[in-house]
This record gives sequence, structure tokens and C-alpha cells, in this order.
Amino acid sequence: MKYFFLIYAIVAISVVGIFKYRGHSFSEPPIVLLPDMDNQDVLKAQKQDAFFADGQGARKPVAETAPRGFQADGATQLGGIPEYEFSGGTGYYFTGHIGDYFGTGMPEELALSVESSQELLKRGEERYQVYCSVCHGKSGDGAGVTSLYGVPGIANLVSSPYSSATYPDGRLYEVITKGKGNMSGYGYNIPVRDRWAIIAYIRAMQVARSAPYDVVKDAYEAGKKQQDEATSAP
Ligand code: HEC
Repeated sequence: MKYFFLIYAIVAISVVGIFKYRGHSFSEPPIVLLPDMDNQDVLKAQKQDAFFADGQGARKPVAETAPRGFQADGATQLGGIPEYEFSGGTGYYFTGHIGDYFGTGMPEELALSVESSQELLKRGEERYQVYCSVCHGKSGDGAGVTSLYGVPGIANLVSSPYSSATYPDGRLYEVITKGKGNMSGYGYNIPVRDRWAIIAYIRAMQVARSAPYDVVKDAYEAGKKQQDEATSAP
């Protein structure tokens, strides 16, 4: 205890000496141990910007464009549920839970019809490739590009532990939303509807894996023919 205050004072002086006073103006940039994206090339709201001729930092939307998800009549896409919803509800659609358990099946809020199921699957494929394939692989086998760079233990989503018989849709929903173990959650990035679209697509990949050889072969050849025709067209 005798030397405590002495050591404390020396540490305090050297910390201030090395890192300087925050909030004061210095000509040299401060030493930042954990930058935490403190310095960014973005404009603060309401600030001026010399880049634009009129000097205004805040810009109006570009003419002839509309924000994502915008519908002119103010309508929403799915029976009353805005397309870009991230959380907020309590039912199965928003939590993946029915009571104390994970539910399974596509929630009725998606109001799926034959056509909209196909749209949902397409959307799911696209979103899966954007958000999940880097790790889980384009076909869900867990061999995404990050596995080459040493991310360990990526789940093989087309293996039997993740089939709908053993791994309910609601549990997939929860993993996408909150993450699990080494995988972080995507609840802040992927809207609720897209999470269900991704789940539908993962199920489709799983079914595709167990499809009989001749079905896969026919589908492959039909797809290839279509592709060849498309690329050979003048
Ligand atoms: C940055 C890499 C990465 C991305 C991107 C990623 N995951 Fe994962 N995921 C992992 C890893 C690693 C695990 C294994 C986690 C563990 O058990 O510690 C995992 C595990 C899982 C599991 C199994 C969890 C369990 O119960 O064992 C599911 C399901 C899953 N991911 C789905 C997804 C979906 C869907 C997406 C896209 C929205 C996604 N992941 C995006 C890395 C990733």
C-alpha cells in the first residue's frame, strides 16, 4: 500500500504522456490501441461537405430513384407485414418459437401461395448466397471460402443433424437471428421475411441432396441445355 499511490501516479502520468489528452487538438494523430472505427470517411448529419458544389453534406435522393421496399401507394407486400421488418412481434413468425418449443413449418404470415413460394425460394437462394455461402458453402456443405482460411467447425447444413426431422425450422430461425457458438447473429442485417426465405432455401438444398440420381441428372441436363442455348444465342 505504501507504494500504491506512487505507482498509480507514475502509471497515470505515463498513460496521459503517451496517449495525450483526448478531446484536445493536436497536430499529430493520437495513438489508438483499439480503433473501433473511430475515424471514418463519413459525414456527420447536417455537416457541410466540400465535395459537392453546393457544399451540402445531406443529399436528396437521386432523381428517378425510389428507396428499397418502397411502394408508391404505401402498401406492404405481405398481408399487413412490412417487407423490411427486423423484429417486434412475439409469435412464431418473429421468434421461431411456439410456446416453449421451436416450431416448424413456414409461418402463415408469409401467406404463401404456389407462385409466392417460388418467389420466396428464389429470394432465399439469393440471400443465402449473400449471407451464408461464404462459410456454409454454395451448396450448404460447410465448405465455404472461409473454411480454406481456417474458420473451424462450420456446420454442414445438408447433413442429417440439420434435417427438418431433427432440426426444426424455428431453431434455424433462432440461429440466423441470434447466432450460435462461433457464428454471429444476423438479426440486425437480415429482415424477418428473408430469414424465412433462407430457411426455405436450406430445406430445398437438403431435399435436393437426397433426390434420386435420375431426377438430379434430368434436372441438371435440362438446366445445362437452357444455359447453353442462352449463351449460344446471338
Ligand atoms: C462467418 C461464417 C459464417 C456465416 C456467414 C454463417 N455461419 Fe452459420 N455457422 C458458422 C459456424 C462457425 C458454425 C458452427 C458454430 C458452433 O457450433 O460454434 C455455424 C453454425 C450454423 C448452424 C448450426 C447451429 C447449431 O445448432 O449447431 C446453422 C443452422 C447455421 N450456421 C446457419 C447459418 C445461416 C442460415 C447463415 C446465413 C444467414 C449462416 N449460418 C452464416 C459460421 C457462419
